[in-house]
Amino acid sequence: MERSFIKPMDEYQELRINFDRFKKRLNEINRIGAMEGGGVCRLSLSDEDKAARDLLKRWTQELDIELEIDQIGNMFLTLPGETNEPCVMTGSHLDTVGTGGLFDGPLGVLGGLEIIETLRENRIRPKRTLKVANFTNEEGVRFTPDMMGSLAFKKGISIDELHGIESVDGKVLLGDELIRIGYKGKFEPGHFPVSAFVEIHIEQGPILENEGLNIGAVTKVQGIYWTEYTILGRAAHAGTTPIELRKDAGLVAAQLTAFVREKANELDGVGTVGITEVSPNLINVVPEKVRLTTDLRHPEKEKLKKFQSEVDEKIKALCDQENTRFERKERVRFDPVDLSGEVAGAIQEQAQKLGFSSKRMISGAGHDAQMMAAICPTSMIFVPSVDGISHNIEEFTKDEDLDRGINVLLHVMLDLANR
Ligand code: GLV
Ligand code: MN
Ligand code: MN
Repeated sequence: MERSFIKPMDEYQELRINFDRFKKRLNEINRIGAMEGGGVCRLSLSDEDKAARDLLKRWTQELDIELEIDQIGNMFLTLPGETNEPCVMTGSHLDTVGTGGLFDGPLGVLGGLEIIETLRENRIRPKRTLKVANFTNEEGVRFTPDMMGSLAFKKGISIDELHGIESVDGKVLLGDELIRIGYKGKFEPGHFPVSAFVEIHIEQGPILENEGLNIGAVTKVQGIYWTEYTILGRAAHAGTTPIELRKDAGLVAAQLTAFVREKANELDGVGTVGITEVSPNLINVVPEKVRLTTDLRHPEKEKLKKFQSEVDEKIKALCDQENTRFERKERVRFDPVDLSGEVAGAIQEQAQKLGFSSKRMISGAGHDAQMMAAICPTSMIFVPSVDGISHNIEEFTKDEDLDRGINVLLHVMLDLANR
């Protein structure tokens, strides 16, 4: 007989995850897409993403864990509860950026799997069912928007629209790639109700480390606007073309890049020009065309909108000045999202019971949790990132911090699942 969880929480106070088992799995998943010098590249719906999904699937089969896959490829692992009350969910993503670290994403998926295993081996059956998600395309590098699987789960976009999305390189359709890798599942996204969502993730910034704290309880995710601009000028001889005759797309791109930094400082936000693709990219030719992206972020919606409109005005003025023109494609418009103070409170309470320091904080990065927040009380557990580095192969979090974070997640999920 499985022990019922409908008992005082104190009975489980000593319960801990098996960190070595978690770490072994993390290492195994990170051999998929491993890059020379460290880090991983597992772009969404690529062969590497498929291999990571296949490995997760194999583990669920070996452990006899129920697995559901929906039409956008989200994968859900289930630990059945004692009741049919809406589940408590955790999860994150196995896809990475092109210069991905070892933790951004898989910590949240494999941390969740470890919790299922810990509860099962201790014969603990929570009141509510627990689910662990591997959301499709959190990073948004190969297909936009980012946080796509969780956006679909909250029904923020239709499945037909999603399947018709072209890859950023214009070569494939998302729906075809889902079929190719075998992860177009049968369930309609959002096919079960969720009572609460908690995601564990590395902080990806320097705050916890600088302040010597163990755990962050996230109360807000800042807004993210992505825009792609193509600046169209004219190729010309670098030696013979007088300055006044030039239509230099490269100059506009450089000036816009500097403006994004300047405005970010002024508005107290962050702004990045991550892609600058110059054509024809030759030493003695004035650039004819530049494809450039802006990633603008701010915790306040009004300031983020102002930031975006000032960048739009600036590129227009710069193009007029240089006799060039531009095309513009909105790739992502996610406003700032408030998370649940109550769930953040549960995180801090469990952290304290386990003897860990914590603070409430805002997330600078985008996360699946920000989508889940639209359908249920949601928060995130952050653990420290060494030197605050992420989206870089040097990304690193110490074992003891991973262990603390997953144990906090275990106890928060038990707490929420017993409500
Ligand atoms: C997701 O990693 C983001 O860009 O914040
Ligand atoms: Mn992530
Ligand atoms: Mn990321």
